[in-house]
Amino acid sequence: MSNTELRVSKIQNGTVIDHISGGYALDVVKILGITGHEGRVMTIAVNVPSKRFAAKDVLKVEGRALNAREVNRIALVAPHATINIIRDYCVVEKLEVKLPRVIEGLIKCVNPACISNSDEPAVAKFYVEDEEPLLLKCHYCGGILEKADVLQQL
Ligand code: CTP
Ligand code: ZN
Repeated sequence: MSNTELRVSKIQNGTVIDHISGGYALDVVKILGITGHEGRVMTIAVNVPSKRFAAKDVLKVEGRALNAREVNRIALVAPHATINIIRDYCVVEKLEVKLPRVIEGLIKCVNPACISNSDEPAVAKFYVEDEEPLLLKCHYCGGILEKADVLQQL
């Protein structure tokens, strides 16, 4: 390790979300609903140099697992994130998040007149037209959502 590198502590049990698109770790914190008042150890690294990408964020959460909805929402803001499950200091599972081609029930349409925003029992549904920059198309009204629209809803 050179003297320009920063060593961040390993965690004992929990989740490390690595390769988050640079600058988006705090959005991932929002997705997880973590306030900091839980009393758990959490480390956030923002815009650190990465071999794979220009810059990346890393989020380490002690004592916390992720559910499927959280993983899918993370994929929306950080499509190259890696989720590492840590037990007794070891990486016991590593998975790459993946955006499905169709997204249902994770976010709302931006169009107030869209049927998915009415009293009708229509679950919001989008087609992923592009991952980065993110471009989603509403199944019902054809409305386009960009990453900024998604971030606003977190
Ligand atoms: N990590 C951690 N605590 C542990 C084990 C791992 O915080 N007890 C972190 C590492 O610092 C790293 C991530 O979890 O950020 C993944 O660990 P590892 O698979 O060992 O690292 P790499 O091989 O660099 O991962 P990748 O190939 O996904 O880049
Ligand atoms: Zn719509």
